[in-house]
Amino acid sequence: MSNLITIERHILEQQKYFPEAHGELTDLLTDVAFAAKLVRREVVRAGLVDILGFAGSTNVQGEEVKKLDLFANEKIISAIGQHGRFAVMGSEENEGIIIPPKNETGSYALLFDPLDGSSNIDVNVSVGTIFSIYRLKGDDPCKASINDCLQHGYEQVAAGYVIYGSSVVMVYTTGHGVHGFTYDPTIGEFLLSHENIITPKSGKYYSINEGSFAQFNDGTKKYLDYIKEEDPATNRPYSTRYIGSLVADFHRNLLTGGVFVYPPTTKHLSGKLRLMYEANPLAFICEQAGGRATDGRNRILDIQPTSLHQRTPLYIGSEEDVIIAEEFEQGLR
Ligand code: AHG
Ligand code: MN
Ligand code: MN
Ligand code: MN
Repeated sequence: MSNLITIERHILEQQKYFPEAHGELTDLLTDVAFAAKLVRREVVRAGLVDILGFAGSTNVQGEEVKKLDLFANEKIISAIGQHGRFAVMGSEENEGIIIPPKNETGSYALLFDPLDGSSNIDVNVSVGTIFSIYRLKGDDPCKASINDCLQHGYEQVAAGYVIYGSSVVMVYTTGHGVHGFTYDPTIGEFLLSHENIITPKSGKYYSINEGSFAQFNDGTKKYLDYIKEEDPATNRPYSTRYIGSLVADFHRNLLTGGVFVYPPTTKHLSGKLRLMYEANPLAFICEQAGGRATDGRNRILDIQPTSLHQRTPLYIGSEEDVIIAEEFEQGLR
């Protein structure tokens, strides 16, 4: 049972780690929690309001955009942009950076995936929102630019996600542990429900889209053969769990143990998932919970970003399971 600590109260308590932030970090994380409530309101009513289906446009990713992608994007930009705490934003749904109307006071950059798992929206399967926060590199918010967004993942000051599932849970870290909050609609608050999440060193689940088998390299194919072999001593075969919403697959593996792999494919030679607003925030959370996140060779948080929407292979989850998947990718097994 949660001890009735709201996310706003918890964030305020995290402020002690950032005396130099003068309360800004509290405000911007509170803004993100507020935006999550607005998105949740529509997600849980999808089907009753005209928010399902395609919006009729294609985004910079080359994806057909869903109405809820756009709704979530617009809500987050307006709900957060109006307070001036962010000087610059980057979204999956916007080709370039977003400079909020009142950016002149902001000290932070926000990168976000407004709605993750869009393919699952119309069929009532869990979707999510992912966010990543950096301090501006320079002192003048009015000079905020793409460079404030393209920082290494290890520079993040906070990261988190919201999963709109059987319950709505917001998980975040400021570098001092990983904490989860479950939304209580009767009082309209996110309440502490998962304090100090630590992910198991190994699990029972592997998450990969085996439908892409023909597009995988030999390392990935050998890994799939390995993970399905019978060997009680190494807890094999693992069970496959793949929802198609990164946030949902990641959240399950974070709590129960397991590994999520989106490897290089012939269709996505650098992987499909985006570094700045999918891999980096989840890697920050995963490492804070004692897990591991790489591109199959390199630590995700150490990758030098070069563009807002760049993609990366992603091996993320329980440390021992990720290392095994990496060894196959590197041809060491
Ligand atoms: P998004 O909906 O934000 O574009 O992200 C979709 C991503 C991720 O959520 C999921 O893990 C992956 O796409 C699924 O890709 P495949 O359908 O190729 O397996
Ligand atoms: Mn998308
Ligand atoms: Mn996504
Ligand atoms: Mn998305």
